[in-house]
Amino acid sequence: MADVRSTALPDTHSIPEAPPAPTHVAIRREDYRPPDWLVPEIRLDFDLDPDRTRVRATLMVERNGDHDRPLRLDGDDISPLKVQVDGADADYRLDGPQLVIELSGRQATVETEVEISPAANTKLMGLYASGGMLCTQCEAEGFRRITFFPDRPDVLSRYRVRMDGDSGAFPILLSNGNRVAKGEGPGGRHWAEWEDPYPKPCYLFALVAGDLKANRERFTTMSGRTVDLAIWVREADLPRTQHAMDSLKLAMAWDEEVYGREYDLDQFNIVAVSDFNMGAMENKSLNIFNSAYVLADQNTATDGDFDNIARVVAHEYFHNWSGDRVTCRDWFQLSLKEGFTVFRDQSFSADVGSAPVKRIEDVRVLRAAQFPEDAGPLAHPVRPDSYIEIGNFYTATVYNKGAEVIRMLATVLGPDKFRAGTDLYFARHDGEAATCDDFVKALEDGSGVDLTPFKIWYSQAGTPKIKARLDYDSGAKAATLHLEQHIDPTPGQPVKQPMPIPLKTAIVGEASGHEICPERLIVLDKASGAIRFDNVAEQPLLSINRGFSAPIVVEAARRPGELERLAQADSDPFARYEAIQELMMLSLVAGARGEQADPAPVIEAVAATLRSNSLDPALKGEAILLPSEALIADRLAVVDPDAIHASREALRHALGSSLASDLLAAHRSDGASGHDLSPKAKGIRRLRTVALGLIAAANEAEGAALAKAQFDRADNMTDRQGALGILVSLDAPQRQDALNTFYDRFHNDPLVLDKWFALQAAAQRADTVDQVLRLEKHSDFTIANPNRLRSIAGTFGANHWAFHSADGRGYRFLADMILAADKLNPQVAARLVPPFGRWRRFEPNRAALMRAELERIVASPGLSKDVFEQVSKSLA
Ligand code: BES
Ligand code: ZN
Repeated sequence: MADVRSTALPDTHSIPEAPPAPTHVAIRREDYRPPDWLVPEIRLDFDLDPDRTRVRATLMVERNGDHDRPLRLDGDDISPLKVQVDGADADYRLDGPQLVIELSGRQATVETEVEISPAANTKLMGLYASGGMLCTQCEAEGFRRITFFPDRPDVLSRYRVRMDGDSGAFPILLSNGNRVAKGEGPGGRHWAEWEDPYPKPCYLFALVAGDLKANRERFTTMSGRTVDLAIWVREADLPRTQHAMDSLKLAMAWDEEVYGREYDLDQFNIVAVSDFNMGAMENKSLNIFNSAYVLADQNTATDGDFDNIARVVAHEYFHNWSGDRVTCRDWFQLSLKEGFTVFRDQSFSADVGSAPVKRIEDVRVLRAAQFPEDAGPLAHPVRPDSYIEIGNFYTATVYNKGAEVIRMLATVLGPDKFRAGTDLYFARHDGEAATCDDFVKALEDGSGVDLTPFKIWYSQAGTPKIKARLDYDSGAKAATLHLEQHIDPTPGQPVKQPMPIPLKTAIVGEASGHEICPERLIVLDKASGAIRFDNVAEQPLLSINRGFSAPIVVEAARRPGELERLAQADSDPFARYEAIQELMMLSLVAGARGEQADPAPVIEAVAATLRSNSLDPALKGEAILLPSEALIADRLAVVDPDAIHASREALRHALGSSLASDLLAAHRSDGASGHDLSPKAKGIRRLRTVALGLIAAANEAEGAALAKAQFDRADNMTDRQGALGILVSLDAPQRQDALNTFYDRFHNDPLVLDKWFALQAAAQRADTVDQVLRLEKHSDFTIANPNRLRSIAGTFGANHWAFHSADGRGYRFLADMILAADKLNPQVAARLVPPFGRWRRFEPNRAALMRAELERIVASPGLSKDVFEQVSKSLA
């Protein structure tokens, strides 16, 4: 690029190089000001070529308010070949990465030209090449790698896009909106022109050029309009697109029914690409997806994959309203679109599948990813106050805790008032860039309810801990619930305020097992409080935070036997699950502390669960799955991963040996043919593998034989992957056999090969570090493909026992991967850092080793700001 710039610039413009703008500086929310210049219209002209693509941009700019500041256009890794204002060469300067133009009037037409190389774009941000096609990813700040533009979400423009490319390599040319013209050009080229009638921020711009085929269907909207749906993939992948298509139609109907939101264009396109930093992207009418969230069939995708596809397709589709029609004013408001849209996709999945199972899964994700974030050095509010690299704030806090905040608001308002609020939000802010405050205000005005106290959930980081104690006065037949809340300090927030905490609470009779005080919603809005329950005629049991009504930790004082009884009798499926999990957790924590842990209560609860006639298999599978090692670690002041692993294995062994016949029955339960994706069939398969895991924990040889049998018999990927997932952790001869069989059958299918890598990186064995070091040298490994990189490095970072290997080799491996990946793709590299974040809580030897790796990373020359921010904050 350097020589392009020096040869192309006329002499008058070769002003001295401006000093490099400081990188690694924090952007602060309080510094927000409206844009100086608006761009109501933009025209883009692409001469597509993998190595040198010409981009001409014509911006109609308009001064916003009375000021004399120049027009500043963001750029990243691009140099201007031409800059014109109103048709004449213009004076401009470069200020760091920005192109600065002094303009005299209120309006102007600004034309720029750059040349970019999609094939050389390893960051996969901006315009890049993937498997012979060209595609874009612009959120959050990728558009500035394509052309000079005020790259901020509160600048909304109407787009007209012309693409010109080789008709052989790129027979399909797509962009946002509607295709308005096309034609043939000279030299085997052709072109297409697209127009998007809806003004949008540049992060929603998209372009795709490639040799793609479409699965096409139609959807009729609630007002009777017809929408052409297309899912674009390589021809060979067409047979694996139907689940995504069915999911899309379900999502479109659901958004009409539940939120009154209808699709607003005549076309909706989804494109699958195999190199993609994230899961998928909601570009207006041209969603671009990681192929992992599009392609599925019975033999290559698990039930979990099918569920994820439905969820991601729905999520990106729902953004059409919560994100595209109403977008974010600035990136600090990211949860406005992501938290809300996650809440919407969670509700969708609950409605089309099993609601209790979905809630359990969502809470598991929150506890596995968000609670540790809130408790560690990377903690930040749902609406952050500052960032160095916005790419680092697509976090579980912004997404999943953000969704929990919306869920609390919905709980407090109830469905009708919540709907009135969201209706008002969409009506009031349609076509605008809004804030989290705007959202809450619309809910307030639409419902007539004051939600001011809840706003603190956007600004205060940290997970509230609630101490709960139920006192019973049998004489007065009254019970009193004493509540106290506490939030630990987080970076930048040493002192915390009490938060409003909506607790769905009921009282269950210990003897009768009935709900003797029906569920009610208690909102604890002070540091402490007491609530009285009357007519309590028998010894009461506390069922609190039912359905996980608030994203908090409950520390309830429990009477002996209370959890056991709740695990059997609580009428709320989530609370019942919680009781079993808490029972397990108490035993696991005791074991990890080296205390005598009696497994009997857990064994009895698991036995009762397996034998229950009222629980469906999916819930059984969830309930009998032990809390993860990371979750146990969160309960310990000083973390010793070996002690945690030993404690968990001991309980698994005790369960496996005491309940062998019940587990075998659960493992053998049938009625789920491979193509059956009903919640019931999925539940049967889930329980089958979870039970098998416990059998194998007690008896390796029997477990290995059963797993191999499941593997060989499997007519679906769920059973196959489940069996292999157990075999990889065993030292049985069947292990390598199965791995080889799997590889031989699937090595030409990248998505399935990712599973093969991930299963081995997730293995619970003493030599997993050696295994991943070997896999990294495997001819099918490539660090340039994000899915493949995550299959090893991401999975390994989440493998608590292996990553925290006492010799520090796990740390070294992951640090090396981060450094190597950072040279190509900083965004993906930075997302591998969080496992290092909690180093302070580990025993001193490991803490020192983790810290040393963080220091090694941060001292490495040429570090991206993405990795710099995550690592320096982890050390602070
Ligand atoms: N807008 C995001 C995609 C995105 C994330 C772009 C980060 C740039 C940076 C999209 O809507 C999204 O949230 N995708 C999720 C999946 C979703 C189901 C939560 C993802 O990509 O992981
Ligand atoms: Zn999203």
